[in-house]
Amino acid sequence: MRILLLCSEFEGLVKTGGLADACKGIASHLVAAGHHVTVLLPRYSALYSRPTGEWQSVFFTLGGHDFGCAVRRLTYAGLDIRVLEHDDFFHRERPYDDGYAGYADNPLRFGFFCKAALEWCRHYLPDVDVIHGHDWQTAVSAAYLKQHYAADPVLAKVPFVFTVHNGAYQLTCDHSWFARLDLAPHNDHFLNMLEQGIRYADKISTVSQGYRDELLSEPAANGLAMLYQHRAADFVGILNGCDYQQWDPATDLALVQNYHQQDLRGKAACKAYIRHRFNLPEQDVPLFVAVSRITGQKGYDYLIPALRHWLMQSPAQVFMVGSGELHYCRQLYQLQEDYPTKFRFFEGFDESLAHQAEAAGDFFLMPSLFEPCGLNQLYSLKYGTVPLVRLTGGLRDTVIPWPAAEATGIGFHEVSVDALLIALQQAEQLYWHGEAYQAVQQRGMQQSFSWAQAVTEYLRLYQQALN
Ligand code: ADP
Ligand code: GLC
Repeated sequence: MRILLLCSEFEGLVKTGGLADACKGIASHLVAAGHHVTVLLPRYSALYSRPTGEWQSVFFTLGGHDFGCAVRRLTYAGLDIRVLEHDDFFHRERPYDDGYAGYADNPLRFGFFCKAALEWCRHYLPDVDVIHGHDWQTAVSAAYLKQHYAADPVLAKVPFVFTVHNGAYQLTCDHSWFARLDLAPHNDHFLNMLEQGIRYADKISTVSQGYRDELLSEPAANGLAMLYQHRAADFVGILNGCDYQQWDPATDLALVQNYHQQDLRGKAACKAYIRHRFNLPEQDVPLFVAVSRITGQKGYDYLIPALRHWLMQSPAQVFMVGSGELHYCRQLYQLQEDYPTKFRFFEGFDESLAHQAEAAGDFFLMPSLFEPCGLNQLYSLKYGTVPLVRLTGGLRDTVIPWPAAEATGIGFHEVSVDALLIALQQAEQLYWHGEAYQAVQQRGMQQSFSWAQAVTEYLRLYQQALN
């Protein structure tokens, strides 16, 4: 099959979160399965330093204005990547915001991306079988295909498959945007970009079965439950995989020492490294780590008070890596000031430190309010860093909570400081009960979440969309 993937992040090129990992996982495993894949991305600032090859230009009108852009080929990881270049829209350090607020022109930027992608495709990829878009940034392509290209000799028969990686990011804007983006209005209030994908795609997926079921009702669906229900027959959950070429402690180049299931000495060295580098005293106490975007989704509203309470009485240590919302970061710095020998926070986006933190921890903290799939818990399992998760969405689908016989992690249900404190105490008990901890750790390291399996399911979905 010839597949065009529309994405706005791609691991190794541009990344703000797991969307990048997932897009690369899908693209490279579709290729490994023998399919032709072209990936189309906006050319953000980070992509200007990369050499490009052949290029084409496309011109079109949108909302009564004339637009043009270049689409350049960029070879990366042996994949056919095309970057859509428009300096005004995409030559920016951060893809979606200026560090404080989303860019005001995001509807136009991504409406433009969606329209330009289809214009490029009909001219330069005429044998395309399926277009697969990811998240709100690509969603209005679904509407354009139905509304602008129903009689197009190339695109009329090309189905659009839409994957929701995070149903909370929707990008809503006022009603005038329907006209400004040449979209048929279907309500009197506002345009919701994500909704366009769910409404008009031929098939829809999200990144775990658990989250798929949650999206059928509120509040998980963020106002779109009726639409997900309406599309339920075309809506499936396909669990993300884990890229073990990048995330394997036996081969990970970011680690000071490698290790594997049969010999964990390297893990102890990784822990010592993080403690030394971040001034945490070397002691026989459990080290909890977290790596995440710092946003409400990841549970900081109750995680921070729970840690404040817990660190008062527990000797455990916590190391966090993340970047995001300032009000949480301030509280994390305060926690560090109050517990300098127990709590350390590194603010920033640092991929190699993310790997080192994964390897260093005894436990990985992921008390998310919601989690469509979650990749960090998959990495943690492989790294022998027992995940402590709130049992929601993809976390519930991938972590078996202690004390079940097959346990691979610690889990809890309720969003509350008390429930989280109980889970933290359970983790600590497990740690001191050496053998039980090792059994959970070992089972986790044996888990395998395969992109090949995920891609088989995507191919089935493409086939259904074609039929
Ligand atoms: P989400 O996509 O909601 O952010 P995931 O768990 O699916 O959550 O994926 C997060 C990805 O982003 C992981 O690959 C993780 O290592 C990476 N990541 C998040 N924050 C940082 C950071 N501050 N530095 C480096 N990598 C990060
Ligand atoms: C989103 C979700 C995360 C998921 C990732 C990749 O960012 O928040 O749970 O793992 O996309 O699909």
